Amino acid sequence: MKLVHSPQELKSLRKTLKGSVGFVPTMGALHEGHLSLIKRSKLENDHTIVSIFVNPTQFLPGEDFEKYPRRYEADKKICEIAGVDLLFMPTPQDMYEKDEVGMYAPKIKGYILEGHFRPGHFDGVLQVVNKLLHITNPTRAYFGKKDAQQLYLVQKMVREFFLDTQIVPCDIVRDQDGLALSSRNVYLSQKERQKALLIAKSLKKAAKMVQSGVIDAEEIKKRMYDILEPIKLDYVEIVDREFNQIDQIKIGDTIILVAGYVGSTRLIDNIWI
Ligand code: PAJ
Repeated sequence: MKLVHSPQELKSLRKTLKGSVGFVPTMGALHEGHLSLIKRSKLENDHTIVSIFVNPTQFLPGEDFEKYPRRYEADKKICEIAGVDLLFMPTPQDMYEKDEVGMYAPKIKGYILEGHFRPGHFDGVLQVVNKLLHITNPTRAYFGKKDAQQLYLVQKMVREFFLDTQIVPCDIVRDQDGLALSSRNVYLSQKERQKALLIAKSLKKAAKMVQSGVIDAEEIKKRMYDILEPIKLDYVEIVDREFNQIDQIKIGDTIILVAGYVGSTRLIDNIWI
């Protein structure tokens, strides 16, 4: 595995690669969720590039940028063992200049749900993903459904900017108890973790209701609110795959989303129906 810090060096190396290139962008503190993306890239491509970069521009003032878990040495080993070919670990200085050309998330789909509670977050996400896709120029890039709105907006950006990369959505990886894996789970105490499980439980219940024939979004949300009562919610929402709010579940075209706080840790999760 080759470790690269400079965008220019990675661009040069990329040009020497023959065959298909898979790319997995991450902010590190790698877990099985990230690994599932890396494994899929390994299966589907001749070369795999992983980036680890805690991107300052996608954190709002007062968010956890400073304390976001950084596990660079452990992450390097994980990537090495997983068979990553190129590991890209730039610094903010490597990635950004002063007074940059901007990147703006769409005014509607970038400012609902996550974008409503974290205004400007998706500007930063799209800015860095755009840069990373230009540096790595991958055949395929792998994104988790865990961050469903991010995935949707990245797909939209790639389409609108006529980029050549195929965006590959990957299933959510969960712990045995159902909790969706997240780098932020390390913030949770044992007690908080138990509370956090209610999020997955509410989504499972929603899926069960759909299975048993309930398609009314309000009815499903009501049952979910009951389960989620102990959690300080940002939102429970039911949307189609284009992130339009819907009143009735459409099987094969629905995402049910939850975001909320357990203690001071903000968690998101969802289920694709
Ligand atoms: P990060 O939170 O590190 O996530 C990197 C990728 O791993 C994302 O595509 C995310 O959806 C996926 N992922 C996280 N947890 C997962 C899980 N439990 N199952 C499956 N996939 C999971 O998302 C980001 O970083 C950043 O916003 C980034 C795209 C790197 C831009 O900075």
